[in-house]
Amino acid sequence: MRQGRIAIRIFVSCCVVLLCLAGRAVSSAPQLSVADWLHTEAELSMTKLQRAISPVGSAPGVVIASPQRQAPDYYKHWVRDAALTMDTLFDSALYSNSTQYQDKVDSLMNQYALFSRQNQLVSTSAGLGEPVFEVNGDVFRGPWGRPQNDGPAIRAIALGKWALSLLARGGRVYVQTYLYAAEIPAKRVVKADMEYVAHHWQDSSFDLWEEVRGEHFFTLMMQRKALLIGAVLAEKMSDVGAATYYREQAQNIFVRLNSFWDGNRNHLVATINWREGVNYKGSGLDVAVLLGLLYGEVDGAFSLKDPRSLKTFDKLKSVFSKIYPINQKNPTLAPALGRYPEDRYSGSDFNGGNPWVLSTLAAAEYCYKLAGSLSQSKQPTLRAHARVAMSMGDSFVERVKFHVNDDGSLSEQIDRQTGFMTSARDLTWNYAAILRTWWAREKVRLH
Ligand code: NOJ
Ligand code: NOJ
Repeated sequence: MRQGRIAIRIFVSCCVVLLCLAGRAVSSAPQLSVADWLHTEAELSMTKLQRAISPVGSAPGVVIASPQRQAPDYYKHWVRDAALTMDTLFDSALYSNSTQYQDKVDSLMNQYALFSRQNQLVSTSAGLGEPVFEVNGDVFRGPWGRPQNDGPAIRAIALGKWALSLLARGGRVYVQTYLYAAEIPAKRVVKADMEYVAHHWQDSSFDLWEEVRGEHFFTLMMQRKALLIGAVLAEKMSDVGAATYYREQAQNIFVRLNSFWDGNRNHLVATINWREGVNYKGSGLDVAVLLGLLYGEVDGAFSLKDPRSLKTFDKLKSVFSKIYPINQKNPTLAPALGRYPEDRYSGSDFNGGNPWVLSTLAAAEYCYKLAGSLSQSKQPTLRAHARVAMSMGDSFVERVKFHVNDDGSLSEQIDRQTGFMTSARDLTWNYAAILRTWWAREKVRLH
């Protein structure tokens, strides 16, 4: 508890320094407020996100990572990106009160569920951990980091949440036929993913950046969340033994996750038990941890207020502020964050890593969620900290707003020298990240 307070205090004092700097430059430019810009950008993101689903000429249910077809070619269905996108689309229906929109989301989720089941049935070397499919449903067979075991977990989260929502709306027959039935071998998409996750979380796999085989904080957080959702679904589908088994495995994963705290370095590391792949990630600092905390949030375990999370966040913020010229050129804004400090991938080559939009938005989402939770406190000091966290979140959003294309579109990366958008254009994941960030900000009630 005391440690938590100290960590929050450190977080706040770092924010205050940055915000004092930020005040000067930002106020001079006539521009939309953060809230207005984020709202406008969220509307654009809804359109862009839907455009990425089942694009003309592709199999229904495909979600392209980006419309860009070369350097880099992202015109493919990445299991991870697709699942994060569809999970966000599902959430968007919860926030909408238009039944027409909710019907549309159900129909897109249905296409995605059917396509995902086809993906599972294609015979591949990586089993359900196969990371990428072509837009006609063939498996992508180029050399790649396989398996990536976060994929089936996130797919199970998106479709598992949808299954629960269908059950609550009287859709048991559909769920039983297409999503989840208590049978082994599993023949429905969610059950198959849950079984895969429950039996394979101990296997090493490639990380979300597709570069390192080992055990990963992000992957385990997503696997744990999937199994906890799976347990609830299993109970409702009279799959009692499975519910118990999924809960047990989720608990085992929780224990494993504690090994990612590195007491010497004082932060959570992204990977343990490195086996192969990129070997120049000396710091262990990685936005993958932040994404694991945010996207893997389910029952308060590894909360954003946990001192381990706060320390990791602070370190990420400070390490990235030092390495990218655009951050030094404009220190008035919160720093743009990359994937990890040692990154070399620039989209088409390995000339040096850049800041990423989705990483910078994750920092904003983290601050807003922290603000939301601190603002509930009975203690005036913590409520004051909530205001600081909120402003910090705004400063990260200002950073993205500063580099966005004139038409509001967002590419994967921000050139570290020029500040212009670079690498894959219209990265679908970015639009999901905008929506998550906007929702997180909308929920904050400062007192
Ligand atoms: C493409 C991947 O998407 C990217 O994350 C990675 O850095 C490069 N391949 C190299 O493996
Ligand atoms: C490279 C990123 O590292 C990976 O996380 C992502 O899945 C692919 N690009 C596609 O967007």
